[in-house]
Order: sequence, then C-alpha cells, then structure tokens
Amino acid sequence: MAELLQKSLKALLSVSVALVLLWLRPSMAAKPDEVPVGVILDLNSELGKMVNNSLALAVEDTERYTATKIRLIIRNVSQNDAVAAAGNASELIEKHKVRAILGPQNSEQAGFIVELGLESQVPVIWFPITGPSLLPPPSPSSNQGLNCFQFQAIAATIEALGWQSIVPIFEDTEYGGHLIPCLSNVLKDMGIRMVNITAIDPDSTDVEIDDILVKLNNRRTHVFLVHMSMDLGIRFIQSAEEQDMMGEGYAWILTQGLSSLTDPQVTTGNPLKGYMQGALGVRPMDSNKTRWRRWTQSYFDYRFNSTLSVYGWWAYHTIEALAMALEKPGADNNGTKLQSEIWDTNFTGLSGINFNLKGGQLDQSVLEVYNVIGPRERVIGYWKPETGLVQNFSKGAKISGKYQLKDPLWPGDTLDKPPKLRIGVVATNSFPELVSVDNSTTPVMIHGFAFNVFLKVVDVLPFPLDYEFVPLPNKSRSGS
Ligand SMILES: *[C@@H]1O[C@H](CO)[C@@H](O)[C@H](O)[C@H]1NC(C)=O
Ligand SMILES: *[C@@H]1O[C@H](CO)[C@@H](O)[C@H](O)[C@H]1NC(C)=O
Ligand SMILES: *[C@@H]1O[C@H](CO)[C@@H](O)[C@H](O)[C@H]1NC(C)=O
Ligand SMILES: *[C@@H]1O[C@H](CO)[C@@H](O)[C@H](O)[C@H]1NC(C)=O
Ligand SMILES: *[C@@H]1O[C@H](CO)[C@@H](O)[C@H](O)[C@H]1NC(C)=O
Ligand SMILES: *[C@@H]1O[C@H](CO)[C@@H](O)[C@H](O)[C@H]1NC(C)=O
Repeated sequence: MAELLQKSLKALLSVSVALVLLWLRPSMAAKPDEVPVGVILDLNSELGKMVNNSLALAVEDTERYTATKIRLIIRNVSQNDAVAAAGNASELIEKHKVRAILGPQNSEQAGFIVELGLESQVPVIWFPITGPSLLPPPSPSSNQGLNCFQFQAIAATIEALGWQSIVPIFEDTEYGGHLIPCLSNVLKDMGIRMVNITAIDPDSTDVEIDDILVKLNNRRTHVFLVHMSMDLGIRFIQSAEEQDMMGEGYAWILTQGLSSLTDPQVTTGNPLKGYMQGALGVRPMDSNKTRWRRWTQSYFDYRFNSTLSVYGWWAYHTIEALAMALEKPGADNNGTKLQSEIWDTNFTGLSGINFNLKGGQLDQSVLEVYNVIGPRERVIGYWKPETGLVQNFSKGAKISGKYQLKDPLWPGDTLDKPPKLRIGVVATNSFPELVSVDNSTTPVMIHGFAFNVFLKVVDVLPFPLDYEFVPLPNKSRSGS
C-alpha cells in the first residue's frame, strides 16, 4: 500500500515537473533579453532561400554558446521593389523595434533602408553577392574597389591563358551592371577584346535564352564569361548544355555568383551537377575547409534540401558577428555602439572561414581561380591586389612570364585550349615592303603592307578572330 502511494506520488511529481516545464517554455521564448532582428530577403530567389535557411541555422547554433537570443523577423520582398523594402524596414523598426536589419540583396533597396536605419540608429547589414556589407559604408570608394577585384582576377586569368577576345554575358540588373565598367579598362590595357557583349534580362523566357545562345554559338570566339545570379545562371547554363555548348571547343569562365553551382561535391539542389566539366571560375580564397563545415553542410543538405555555399556561410557568420557584438557592454541598447562593434568583427569561424568586417565590408581581397575536373575542383591560381595572379599562394611572389596558372582542363576533357588560327609568315624578307620578319625581338615582329592589310581586315570582321603568327623557317629562297 505504502509502496503504491509512493509510486503514485512519484508519478504525480513527474507530471507536475513536466507541467512546470511546459509552463516555463513559452515564458523562455519571450525572455526580455531576446533581441529582435529584421530580415529582408527575396524568398523567391535561390540566394534568398539559402540565406533564409542559413540564418535560421545560425540562430539555433549561436544560442547554444551566447547569452544573446536573436529572434529573426523575416520579410519576403521582391528584389525589384525598393518601395516595399522601405515599407517593411520601417515597420520592422517602428513596430517590432528591431535592433538590426539584415538584407536586402539589392543595393537600391539597401539605399532606402539605410536612410531609415540612420534615422533610428539601427545598423543595416546588406547582402550583395560580394559578401555582407555594413551600411552606410565607411567610404564609398572602398566598396567600389572590392566589387571590382573578382573582375581584375578574371582579366589576369584571361591574359595568362593567352586569349585575345572573350564574350561577356551578364544579367541586365544592378548586379550584372558591374561587369563592363570593371573589366573594360583592365582588358584594354592587356589588349584583350570584348566582343558580342550580351546583357540578358532576368525575366527572359527559356526560348529567348536559347535564341541568344544560338546566335552566340555561330561566332568564332568560344570563350564565354558569365556574370549572373543563380536564378538566371541555372537556366542559362542548362540552355547552353542543350545547345551542346558545354563540350570541347568552348571555354566557360564564371564569376563569384555562380561559383557555388559548379561544386561537384554538392549533391542536392544543384541542377548543374555534372554539366560544368572544365569550367573556370573565381571565388574568394576558401582553402580552410574544416571537418565541422563538411558535416554542417551535409546536415544543411539533409534538412533544407539545398546547398550551403560560401555565400550562405557568410550569412551564418553574420549572425555570429551580430550576437558577439550584442554581448559587448553598451551595444545592447545603443545602435551606434552596436554598429561600431560589428565593424570590429574579425574571427575565424568553425567553418574555417575568416570573417573580417573591418572597414564595413567582408574582406575577401584574396581570390582563387579554380577549374572543375571530374568529381573535384582544382585551384589553379590565386589573385590578390598586391601580387596579381600567382600559381602558389604560400610562395606569394609574382612569377615572371605570362603563364602563371596551372594548366586547366577545358570542357570536353581536353587540355587543348579552344582553337586559335595559326598564320604562317614566310621569313625570306625578299620583299620587305610586302612582308618582313624581324626575328631579333620576342615575340618576332612582323611589318609590311600585307601585314597591315591583314590587321585592318581583322578589325572590320563581323566576328572576333583568335590568331597568332608563326614565322616559317627561312629555308627556300622562294619562301613558298
Ligand atoms: C525561412 O526561414 C524560416 C525560419 O526562420 C522558415 O520558417 C521558412 O520556411 C523559410 N522560408 C523559406 C522560403 O525558406
Ligand atoms: C514571396 O513573395 C513572392 C511575391 O513577391 C511570392 O510569389 C512568394 O510565394 C513568396 N514566398 C514565400 C516563401 O512566402
Ligand atoms: C556579334 O557581333 C557582331 C559584330 O561585332 C554582330 O554582327 C553580331 O550580330 C553579334 N552577334 C550577336 C549574337 O550579338
Ligand atoms: C582554419 O580553421 C580553423 C577552425 O576555425 C582555425 O582554427 C584555423 O586557424 C584556420 N586556419 C587558417 C589558416 O585560417
Ligand atoms: C631570310 O633569308 C634572307 C636571305 O636568304 C635574309 O635576307 C633574311 O633576312 C632572312 N630572314 C630572317 C627573318 O632571318
Ligand atoms: C634570325 O635570323 C638570322 C638570319 O637568318 C639567323 O642567323 C638567326 O639564327 C635567327 N634568330 C633566331 C632567334 O631565329
């Protein structure tokens, strides 16, 4: 009897403990030190979805080791709607008293939101594809420089590989618009031509994209530089694959925004898996991939059925940076102080990524050039502003000579570059007015009327011509 009573008491006790816990839980969720943070993303875009999931995961993880509890208040706003972005930001600030705003992806929207943020001292960290930036930027020019780095690295790659012309294809948006201003001067100095510069409206139908590619495919230059966001990029590359343009004889160079799509190790949510053999790309140097990061990426794949790219990691670390800044004395109730604490962020995450927001923008001036080979990507060179392109990052010093990359593998599993027209020049110099070869210089200089006419013709050709001159041995007097 006593035993039964004891048992019932025990049961009663455990039920009440459970009840107390249940009663406590909601009150924990509403703890006063919970910090509301506004998030403005375009949840219709691939990037927006990934960032949204990555932020959610980061909040869960960060809560385990900081006292700060961040509560995300998410707003889904189309990237093209600056007014809606501003409306949502002001609602987040006034009604929800958010302490910081993350997003948007687009700088026009960011411009509106930062005005509101300044008035109410709410730091705004926006997510351009070049990595999180704090607004307002400490100096607008520093922002501009960083945006151009990836294009400078690409230009150096093109030069090192000896290409004389490329076809730049970019999305006709504010993001895509950086390409030409950043590239044109660098390429001109290198003597590399941009031909058939093509802007693609992100709202183009698949048929329209096919048409553009069919036209481009008829040209002689088959070195394509693609600068797009993921949404348009996926459709574009799929279309190129359907036109048989991903095989031998074509070279593809991708800017940062598409780089995560080529990762052959990515298994889920990557429709381009297997398409990108031989493609070249640039991305921030990312050589410190920890085991924890691989593990978290597979967990992310499994849980959200999508890929956590470097871009998603930046969003993840932004939450950590924000949580750390909020722990600093005085930063929890003073927006200006919070902002300057975020500016001071510099840590290496468990992912192995160095997250340095000094200067208000993620430092990623060291870039790597990679090549997709089979089931892996191989890094074939590194670029930073001080050294330009180098083959080996740790050796650092700029290698002399033009060819500073490891040999890439081209689409179609070939080591041959897309073909170049080789033009033989007889070196007899019997009619120097017509054509003469001066072999005292490297490269050999060619002069004369025939040569000048050739150059003029190339200039007015309706298509670009990749060519080189090959002086023929000075054997027969006739030079036939
Ligand atoms: C965005 O994240 C929230 C959790 O923070 C989740 O409930 C929601 O489903 C996500 N939306 C999308 C479109 O991924
Ligand atoms: C986000 O908003 C767009 C309209 O701008 C809508 O089509 C889409 O379904 C929304 N997505 C989510 C996850 O709410
Ligand atoms: C490429 O450029 C040439 C002239 O430079 C032009 O005739 C041709 O139509 C262009 N092709 C495309 C697809 O824009
Ligand atoms: C790589 O990441 C680990 C884990 O965060 C870090 O301890 C280490 O310093 C990093 N190494 C480099 C070279 O950044
Ligand atoms: C080729 O030979 C002729 C005479 O046989 C000479 O005049 C000419 O300079 C030579 N050309 C070169 C490039 O050596
Ligand atoms: C240049 O031409 C001269 C004359 O034909 C020849 O003696 C010499 O070996 C050539 N030099 C080179 C580098 O081909």
